[in-house]
Amino acid sequence: MGSSLRLPGLVDVHVHLREPGQTHKEDFASGTAAALAGGFTTVLAMPNTQPPITTPRVLELARQAAQAGARCDVGIFAGAGPDNASLLPALAAHSCGLKIYLDATFGPLRVNDLPTLVAHFNAWPGPGPIAVHAEENSVPLVLGMVAASGQRVHFCHISRRVELELIARAKERGLPVTCEVSPHHLFLTGEDAARLGAYGQMRPPLQTGDDREGLWELLHYVDCIATDHAPHTREEKASGSPPPGVPGLETALPLMLTAVHAGRLTLPRLIELMSSTARHIFGLPAAESDTFVEVDPDAAWRFPERGWYTRAGWSPFAGREARGRVVSVRLRGRDVFLDGKLNAEPGTSRVLF
Ligand code: NCD
Ligand code: ZN
Repeated sequence: MGSSLRLPGLVDVHVHLREPGQTHKEDFASGTAAALAGGFTTVLAMPNTQPPITTPRVLELARQAAQAGARCDVGIFAGAGPDNASLLPALAAHSCGLKIYLDATFGPLRVNDLPTLVAHFNAWPGPGPIAVHAEENSVPLVLGMVAASGQRVHFCHISRRVELELIARAKERGLPVTCEVSPHHLFLTGEDAARLGAYGQMRPPLQTGDDREGLWELLHYVDCIATDHAPHTREEKASGSPPPGVPGLETALPLMLTAVHAGRLTLPRLIELMSSTARHIFGLPAAESDTFVEVDPDAAWRFPERGWYTRAGWSPFAGREARGRVVSVRLRGRDVFLDGKLNAEPGTSRVLF
């Protein structure tokens, strides 16, 4: 028997669960199974589905699918489309935030003209933050929008040193901004992308070693670790036009525990980054005492090629050594994951908001 450590239920504020429309990649039932196996008891799902979650009708469709499938708690983002600013007040009450894509990624959801961006910033009533996919020049553009509008903004998957430096300065000047980084940007670089081919392609892409070290050096300015779990099938990744995105729910906690083991961050800091700060930013319920994750922080193991709960069925970290492993997960008093086995039926957890 290894040693055991108790953490609060983890929160992943950035996952793609592909419902409605692309359930061959993932659905609420398979995605929340992967979440529990990874130690996450709450996930926030992105709106770049098919159709995208840009109207009250599609949001309601997604909420019903989540209610039927969820094995852990799920919140759902509303998406900013080319002409749905007038619908934002109706979307706000039942979503965890507004997602605006300023830069190219998987799916057509994108805002790339200033009048539309301004319309969304003016129309969003909260209480959830505006979450943005902003890279390079889009980062100062959004910081300008924050200064001009007073809206609270959460930056998704920040990947470059210079971007995080800019956000750090904005925080020091008191702007209401938060940010997340993803494990793949903390543990992989462009060199891994060359080795992994399509399996190492995502948006933002893997960056330089200096960018990766920058994220670690400036980690005290980071609010959340978010996986950007973006499942695509092996067939899709092997095709002539592979979609960007990698799964991450089942590897994030072991990777971060490995970093704790190596002395790169403390366990209390890991808990802030993977649970408590996210609850604060998104107004989620406080951690409950009957919801927790037991980990063996000393377990040494190797990420496998197969056997994952995500429908994607692969990991960019396969073959890598990890130190630290999820032993069990308790959700509101129920043992939902125990010794590698899932014990939670679809539809047994909650849709938030
Ligand atoms: C995401 C996806 O597949 O939906 N892909 C990705 O590379 N990150 C989209 C996104 O998060 O931008
Ligand atoms: Zn994403």
